[in-house]
Amino acid sequence: MKPVQIAPSILSADFSRLKDEIQAVEAGGADWLHVDVMDGHYVPNITIGPVVVEWVRKAATIPLDVHLMITDPDKYAPEFIKAGADWVSIHPDTCADAHATLRKIRELGAKPSVAVNPDVALGKVEDYLSEIDMLLMMTVFPGFGGQAFIPEVLPKIEEARKTIEQRKLSVLIEVDGGIKVDNIDQVVRAGGEVIVSGSGIFKTPSYAETIRQMRSAAGQL
Ligand code: DX5
Ligand code: ZN
Repeated sequence: MKPVQIAPSILSADFSRLKDEIQAVEAGGADWLHVDVMDGHYVPNITIGPVVVEWVRKAATIPLDVHLMITDPDKYAPEFIKAGADWVSIHPDTCADAHATLRKIRELGAKPSVAVNPDVALGKVEDYLSEIDMLLMMTVFPGFGGQAFIPEVLPKIEEARKTIEQRKLSVLIEVDGGIKVDNIDQVVRAGGEVIVSGSGIFKTPSYAETIRQMRSAAGQL
């Protein structure tokens, strides 16, 4: 199995102690921080804006992986990049011209990624593969942390890995939604390389121990 990056989603952190929470997952071995941005339009929930990302950037030393679940990424992606996003994922159905949005994200110095909802076929996003650095496979419908993992997405992750290998592209596969110590092995076996986990880490007593168990379950220890 390939080396995995563990990306805790701060959506499930205690926001009254956000800096401590960030430092605790970093000290516990997190590789990236996943930031779920929701605007109450594309999804019913409202979460984090650029102002908060700016402070997260100051508190963190690892890469910031910003997942935009908003209706106007063209308007706001630049603000999140300015605030410190290293990676920016967009849902292509939110863009007038997703190719242009991805190009803009790269021009502004971040790495572009396309998110694929559980009910979207891989064929719908194959055109973007040569333009992105990461494909974000959703294993829940976007909107909330703490939802149940949808195992039916696993074959699509395998298909994505095969396509990326066949086309010799350097596109990471990130998997997001409902991942915990007890199912990370399936995700990694299917081809997941960047593993997002919100409640699976932040709702456990020891982040370091949970991240260690995740790596071990993923065959990395
Ligand atoms: C869902 C978000 C996910 C989610 C992950 O809309 O994109 O990143 O917060 O949280 P868990 O791991 O709790 O499903
Ligand atoms: Zn996310």
